[in-house]
Amino acid sequence: MATDALQKTTLRVEQLGVSSQAGVDALFSELRSAADAEAAQIRGPESLEAFRVKWLGRRDGISSRISENWLKPAPPVMKKFVGAGLNQLRTALEASVESAKNSVADIETGPPIDLSLPGIERPVGTSHLIRQTYEELERIFLAIGFSVVEGPEMETPYYNFEALNIPEHHPARDNMDTFYIEGSGGHLLRTHTSPMQIRTMEKEPPPVRIIVPGKVYRRDNPDATHGFIFHQLEGLAVDYDITFCDFRGVVDYFVRALLGPKVKTRLRPSYFPFTEPSAEVDVSCHVCGGSGCRTCKFSGWIELFGSGMVNPAVYGFVGYDPKRLSGFAFGMGVDRLAMLRYGITDLQAFFQNDVRFLRQFP
Ligand code: DAH
Repeated sequence: MATDALQKTTLRVEQLGVSSQAGVDALFSELRSAADAEAAQIRGPESLEAFRVKWLGRRDGISSRISENWLKPAPPVMKKFVGAGLNQLRTALEASVESAKNSVADIETGPPIDLSLPGIERPVGTSHLIRQTYEELERIFLAIGFSVVEGPEMETPYYNFEALNIPEHHPARDNMDTFYIEGSGGHLLRTHTSPMQIRTMEKEPPPVRIIVPGKVYRRDNPDATHGFIFHQLEGLAVDYDITFCDFRGVVDYFVRALLGPKVKTRLRPSYFPFTEPSAEVDVSCHVCGGSGCRTCKFSGWIELFGSGMVNPAVYGFVGYDPKRLSGFAFGMGVDRLAMLRYGITDLQAFFQNDVRFLRQFP
């Protein structure tokens, strides 16, 4: 038994009745087995240190005890054998401590890494096509001095409607198919990104040149061209000297940057409560070049977005002086743009996250 072997180190060799080299060797081999068994149990830095202190510790380590109890008082004939045995034991203990140190380090850091093994390929995702489209739109407008702002998706009727010159009972509220949030005290999910026109002008003095990317919500039945969530990009430029020509110029610049230099634009009279005059921006069909095809429903033109000169009534809500300021605004459906651009026929593809679809737009 290991404990017996250890207890023997508290007595002297004569007391143990050992008087020959063979007897001494037997004592040491008993201790060696005990030490080896304990070394095999070392599992971490604490147990390693405990082992070291117990066997090699200067004050009361077993090897010190052997030196005190066995070696020093041994009769001269025995000293040689005890000394040799003790040296061997110490060497073995030190070797055990060294090798345990290495395996403890392995436990802590894991096995050594074989740098020659083939690597594991981790597939890298890409931006969603909608995000990619936003980035392109942003690049086009940032280049001419617009900056990007974002706003809350949960809005108040004031920002979503009133301050945009859409009073209660105005028919424009009906075709906005609004989601009202129950128990929110009248909050709603914004039906367009236009509320950020108001929030921005409220906070900042003119001039203002912003675009607003973001999600909008409407109570539509989902189909190939409708969803209850979709994406818009709003734009607003207000300054002391902005004319309709500036508006026309920015529209042309934007359409050419997006669809190429050959594309023509036309403004078609329209109506939005927050712009006056209002216009739909149409572009010549990028598929057939204007001669008529399925994409443009054989009209040669594609409706791209709504726009207009900011209605002076809006300035009244934000404390801007309508007599001195003027500007233009626009709002486009980003999903629609991406569909036109890439010939995608089902809006739902943007929301289903089917990787077979997503992977086509790396
Ligand atoms: N907010 C409009 C919508 O969602 C789009 C729009 C039209 C925004 C004209 C504008 C604008 O800023 O000038 O239908």
